[in-house]
Amino acid sequence: MVKPDAAGRLERLLGAMTPEEKIGQLNMLSADSELTGPGGPADYMAALRAGRLGSMLNLHGAERVRAVQRVALEETRLGIPLFFGYDVVHGHRTVFPIPLAEAAAFDPALWEETARIAAVEAAADGLTMAFAPMLDVARDPRWGRICESAGEDTWLTSRLAEAKVRGFQGRDLTAPGSVAAVAKHLAAYGAVLAGRDYAQVEVSERSLHETYLPPFRRAVEAGAAALMPAFTDLGGVPLTANAAVLRDLVRGAWGFDGIMVSDYDAIAELIPHGVAADLAEAAALALKAGVDIDMMSHAYTKGLPEALARGAVTMADLDAAVRRVLTFKARLGLFDDPYRETATTALTAERRAAHRAAARDAARRSIVLLSQKDGLLPIAEAPRRVAVLGPLADAAGEMLGPWSASGRPEEMVTFLAGLRATWPRSDVAHARGVDIDSEDVGGIPAAVDLARSADLVVLCVGEARGMSGEANCRGHLGLPGRQGELVKAVLDAGKPTVVLLSSGRPLLVPELLDRAGAVLATWFLGSEAGNAVGDVLSGNWNPSGRLPVSWPADAGQIPIFFSRLPTGRPYAPANRYTSRYLDIPTEPLFPFGHGLSYTRFALRDLRVSATELRAGETLSVAVEVANEGQAAGEETVLLFVRDPVASVSRPVLELKGMAKVQLASGERRTVRMSLEAEAVAFPGIDMTPRLEPGEIEIFVGPTARTDALLKTSIRVLAS
Ligand code: BGC
Repeated sequence: MVKPDAAGRLERLLGAMTPEEKIGQLNMLSADSELTGPGGPADYMAALRAGRLGSMLNLHGAERVRAVQRVALEETRLGIPLFFGYDVVHGHRTVFPIPLAEAAAFDPALWEETARIAAVEAAADGLTMAFAPMLDVARDPRWGRICESAGEDTWLTSRLAEAKVRGFQGRDLTAPGSVAAVAKHLAAYGAVLAGRDYAQVEVSERSLHETYLPPFRRAVEAGAAALMPAFTDLGGVPLTANAAVLRDLVRGAWGFDGIMVSDYDAIAELIPHGVAADLAEAAALALKAGVDIDMMSHAYTKGLPEALARGAVTMADLDAAVRRVLTFKARLGLFDDPYRETATTALTAERRAAHRAAARDAARRSIVLLSQKDGLLPIAEAPRRVAVLGPLADAAGEMLGPWSASGRPEEMVTFLAGLRATWPRSDVAHARGVDIDSEDVGGIPAAVDLARSADLVVLCVGEARGMSGEANCRGHLGLPGRQGELVKAVLDAGKPTVVLLSSGRPLLVPELLDRAGAVLATWFLGSEAGNAVGDVLSGNWNPSGRLPVSWPADAGQIPIFFSRLPTGRPYAPANRYTSRYLDIPTEPLFPFGHGLSYTRFALRDLRVSATELRAGETLSVAVEVANEGQAAGEETVLLFVRDPVASVSRPVLELKGMAKVQLASGERRTVRMSLEAEAVAFPGIDMTPRLEPGEIEIFVGPTARTDALLKTSIRVLAS
C-alpha cells in the first residue's frame, strides 16, 4: 500500500506531467540485446530522454540498469524512475527446472523457494519485475508453451500461483530480494486451437470460469502486483481489448488494483486481429479495457495522442492508467530508493552455493521415472564401464531450457559431467551418435561400439531447448531428427539401458518405453541437471516426481486430461456406440500423477472426519500410507472429488488436495488432507457459485486412474 503522503506526492507528480509524459509512463521498450518478440530494436535512450519511456524489458545487469536509471533520474524533466522487467520464468542466474518439470514435484514449498532464489538473483541484477508465474492451464502438448505451465490441472496451477507470487514478491515489494510478479497470460491462452501458438481460442463460459481463470484469481488474492493479458481472443475479443474480463471481472469483481502489462506487441496486434483499424483505435481499446503498459508495440506513444484528439479516450482514462503505474513504482519503493539498494542482497559465494544446492534438489524432485524393467534402477554399485550416449549427453546449453534468463551454459552440469562425478572410479565414455536436428547418422556406429563395450548405457535423447516454449509448437511428438535410429541401434546392442528423455512436453516414444530398461522424464532440469540425474540413478535420491499432465498414448487423443465431463456413452469395450476411437485407446499412456519409485507404497484405510458437510465446514480426509518396499521414499497422495448428480454435469474427477509423505522402508503413517465445503461448490446454470446438497464422492490415491483410487462418500447438507 502507498502511504497517504506518498499518494499526495503522486497526485502532484501527475498534475505536473504533460500528456506526452503521461503516455511515456505507459511505454515499455526492450533493450536491443535480447528481443523476445517481433519488430526491430527501439531507440530506448532517445525515448527515455524525451520523457517517453516508463519501463523496460530485457535490460539486466546491475551496472547497465544503473546507468539507464541514472539517465531517467538526472536527464529527464521529471526524474521519474524506470522499472525493469525480464522473463525470470525458471530461475535467473541459477537455472531451475522448467515449470512443467517443477510442477511434477507437487510441492508448493519448493515452488516458493525457487521463485525466491530467482527473485534474489534477479534483484541483484537490477531487475524489478519478473514476467512470471505463467498460469495457463495447458492440455495440449503440441503447444510449445506447455513447458512454461504447471500442466493440465486448475487446482495444482492455483497452488503454484500462490507459491510463486509469495516467492517472487516476499513480504512486500520493497523487501530485500523481492521483485514484482506478473501473472500471465490472462486467460485461456493454453486452449489455442490444435495447439498452435497465437491461434484462436474456443472455450465455453464454464471452462473459462472453472478451468482457466481460477489460477489468476489465486494470484490476485496472493497479491500479484501485475497481470499480463494473453495475445489470444475469447469469443472473438482479444484479451488485450477485453474490457469484460480485464476491467469488469478482474479489476471490478476481483478487486485487482495492480497494473496490467500488455504482452509483447499485443496492442498493435489488435489491428491484424481485426478489431482495430489503426494504432489510435488499438490504443483506445486497450486503454479502455484497462491495459496500463504497452510492451513494445508503440501503439500508446503513436496512437494515444490521436485517440485523445478523436475523443476515443479521455484524459481521465489516461490519468487512471498513469496513476496505477506511478503507484506501482511507489510500491516498489522506487521514488525513495531508485537504485533499489535496500532491495539488493549480496550474492556471496555461500549464498550462490546454497542456490546451487536448491537447484539440485529441485531438479531431482522434478525427475519422473516413467518406466522400468527388472529393477534396473537404482544402480547400487558403480558400473565398471558406462556409455553416456546421445545428443543431449554433453549439451550444456540445452540444460538451460527455454527461458534461460541469465543462465550461462558454462555453469550447467551436463549429464555426462554429473555421471562422472557420481561414479568417479568408473570409465565413463561418451559418444553423441547424432545431432538433434541433423540428418547425419555417421556417428551411430561409434555410439553402438561404445554401448557394446559398456556395462551400463545411459542414452540421452529428446528435444532441443529451442523446440519448446513460445512459438515452438510441434505436430509430431516423436523424437526429432534421426534420434529414432540411434535409439534402435543402441537398444539392439542389448545392454542395460537407461534413457534420459529431455523435453518440454510429453513425447510419443513407444519404442523407448517398450524396450529400454528404464526411462526417466528429465524435461529441462537446469543448472544441476547432471548431478540430479546422478543422485537418481545411483539411488541417493529415490525418484518422487509425478506427472502434472496426462501423457498421451497417441497424438490423436490430444487434448487429453483427467478432469473431463462424463458422457452419456462412456467407453465400454463391448459396446460400439460408446465414446472411443476405432484405432487408438481412449486412456492416456500414463495418467496424471504417474511416476514410479524404487520402493512400493500401499494406501489403505480411507477415513473422513464426518459423513455430512455444511457450508463453512471443513472435512478432514485421512489415509494410511505404508512403504512396503526396500528403500526409503516419498509418496504423493492426491485427493479428488466427484459430484455424481448436480444441476450441471460435473467432471469425472476433480483434484482438490495433495499431501507428500517421506517414509522409511517398512514405515507407515496416516496422512491428512482437508476439504472445505466450498471446494465442491461450482458455477450453477446461471454461472453463480452454488453449493448443492447431495452426495460427494471422495477419492484418494497416487494417480488420476479411477481404478487405482480408494473411495468413500459424504453428503453436503443444505445450510
Ligand atoms: C511472451 C511473454 C513474455 C514477453 C516478454 C512475449 O512474447 O508471450 O510471456 O513475458 O514476450 O518477453
